[in-house]
This record gives sequence, structure tokens and C-alpha cells, in this order.
Amino acid sequence: MGPPDVILGVTEAYKKDPNPNKINLGVGAYRDDNGKPFILPSVQKAQKILDSQNLDNEYGPIGGIQSFTDASAKLAFGENSDVIKSKRYATVQGLSGTGSLTIGAYFLNRFWNKSKDIYLPTPTWGNHIPLFKDAGLTIKQYRYYDPKTCGFDFSGALHDIAKIPEGSMIVLHACAHNPTGVDPKPEQWKEMSKVIKSRNLFPFFDMAYQGFASGDIDKDAQPLRLFIEDGHQVALAQSYAKNMGLYGLRVGAFSLTCKDKEEADKVMSQLKILIRPLYSNPPITGARIAEKILNSSDLYKIWLDDIKTMSGRIMSMRSKLREGLKKEGSSKNWEHITDQIGMFCFTGMKPEQVERLMKEHSVYLTKDGRISVAGVTSKNVDYLAKAMHAVTK
Ligand code: LMR
Repeated sequence: MGPPDVILGVTEAYKKDPNPNKINLGVGAYRDDNGKPFILPSVQKAQKILDSQNLDNEYGPIGGIQSFTDASAKLAFGENSDVIKSKRYATVQGLSGTGSLTIGAYFLNRFWNKSKDIYLPTPTWGNHIPLFKDAGLTIKQYRYYDPKTCGFDFSGALHDIAKIPEGSMIVLHACAHNPTGVDPKPEQWKEMSKVIKSRNLFPFFDMAYQGFASGDIDKDAQPLRLFIEDGHQVALAQSYAKNMGLYGLRVGAFSLTCKDKEEADKVMSQLKILIRPLYSNPPITGARIAEKILNSSDLYKIWLDDIKTMSGRIMSMRSKLREGLKKEGSSKNWEHITDQIGMFCFTGMKPEQVERLMKEHSVYLTKDGRISVAGVTSKNVDYLAKAMHAVTK
């Protein structure tokens, strides 16, 4: 018998708890202010249009629906990017973030002949480690989070990155770092880009939260776009789980930027050769929805509002939680709750405190002290603040 998953296992434990006040802050899944899953109005509209079109259920192409993959690349790199204008990208549809990362991991294992070492920030999303390992890469780490400040360890990161052997791969969270919610500042990204370039490292961006972090699609993609401007060739995994709420429909994309269109065509052919025995071709339903939203100016506008609704509610819950802890009389510095960004807050609570939160207060979260702020609502925030204060005082 193997252990339960560190993230999804939390939901299993939560479901078994009979306490009516229980809160699930484990898995990163957005909830509305009533604690209910949120189907985005833009998604509902796209679904309606698709229903009325009576589309067939034939196989999709191996690389996925092209109007979706092209729109995805545009969303990430920006319409005016040279990557888009000169068509020097190869983008395939992937099964959400995880599946898209996995395609990239397999591809790099097969074709990146300079090194098998891939450097991940400490800490990183739990699934990164088995995913890259299972694809045959060797996991290495660089410093990222500073527990003393609950913020970014810029000098530690830069110091470690400067020592990474040339030709290695490095994973970067484009925005809303999971699990810490701690992102480098724009000036810090610039420095990192320089050092990564000088070491000839291959950057692999994981962008699972574009728009979801700041409420602004372009702002959240800025680190990726900066690397492109600085002349890096990059790999990119995108997910539409959070920013379109398409969790279970598994919609994502994997891209590689290339030297020119000719190289992109070759990469595309190799990606298809890799995908065909894995799962043949990706599911069509979710990608059709995302494609409709990305390619229709009306739906796109509605979607931008939806994103603002979600990111705005999360930001306001961060403030409420911080205020709540103050009201409870906590003398701890909880500034990081509002300084951090995106779905998660890395609270700094120790495993024993997390254990007590679950056992004594029925508040469920991952052992590392990460809470999904998306699960906090105006109805449970006071209860949460009380519980957090009780275990940290
Ligand atoms: C999370 O970190 O909670 C999400 O990305 C969901 C997942 O698959 O782990």
C-alpha cells in the first residue's frame, strides 16, 4: 500500500470529517464566497454555443485542436511577440498543467543532450518531483523561499543558480509560485534571466496561473516574455484549470520556442511522435471551450472579468484573514499573507500546528503549512483566523 497523495489526500481526509464547520484548504481549487465550485460565466456561454453547434465526437489531431494551440501560444507570448509573428513555436495540447509538463519532460529527456539535470526551486509544487523523475530526469534544487521572511530568498537563489553546471535545465514558476505564493519582483527576474543566460541553462516555465495571480493576463506573463526578449529559448507548460476553472476537463498546452519556423515544424513532428503512444490524441471538449473563449472577442472580454472576480476575491480574503488574526490578538507578523500572491499562502505554520488545525479545528491543509486562499470565504474566515491563532499563540 502506498501513501496517499500529499495534496489530493487532504481532500479524502476532509470528506471523512463529520464536523459541520470543517474547511478544506488543501487542493488549489477556486470556490465562490459560498464555498461552492465556480463555473465561469464565460465558460457557461462558450458551452451553450458549443451545445447548439451539435459537433461530432471524432478523434482530434495528435497535437490537439490547432485553433486552441495557436490561441494558447498567443496568450502566453503576447500577440506582438516575435515568437508568434515569425511562427517559431511548436505548441501541442496537453492534459492540463501536469500533462503538459510531462510532455515537456519526456521531450527534454529524449532530445536535450547536454544534461539530464533539472533544477527545481525549494520548495516546489509536490507533483513536479515525481513527474520529472519518472520521465528520466535527475532532480536538483536551488534556494527559493526564505522561511525567516516568508518571502523570496533572492540572494540565495541567485547564488545557487550561478553555480548550476552549464547546460542543465531549470524550472521557473512564471507567476503565483506554488506552494509559497512568493514571486520574484520584475528587477529580480531581470537578474535571474541574465544569470540563467550566462550559465547556458535551459528554462522550463510552468505557468499554471496566468491572469489568476494579479487579475492581469499580460502582467502575469511578463517573466516569460522577458526571457524571450533576452534571447532565451524556452519550454512552457500552460494550464487552464485555474484561470478558466476547467479543472476536470484537463485543458493545457506545452510549447517550445524555436530558432525559426522550420525548426518549429521539426519539433512539432517529434512531439507528435512522442504523444501518439502515450495517449494517442488529447480530449476535445475542454479545448473547444477554451478555444471559443480565446478566439471570440466578446467571450474573451467576459473571461477577463471572470479572472478579476476570482483574483479579487482571493486578495480580499487575504486581507480579511490578516485582519482576523489581528482581531484575535495574534502578536505574530502575518504581513506575508497579503504580500504573497495567487491561490496559495505559505503560512509558516509548522507541521505540529498543521496537525492541530486538522485534529482540533477540522481545518484541512497540506503538511507544509500551505493554505489554498481560494477556499476561504467571508463565512469561514473568522473561524479560520480563530483556529490559526489558537495553534500559533
Ligand atoms: C494544487 O497544488 O493544489 C493544485 O495544483 C492541484 C494539484 O493537482 O495538485
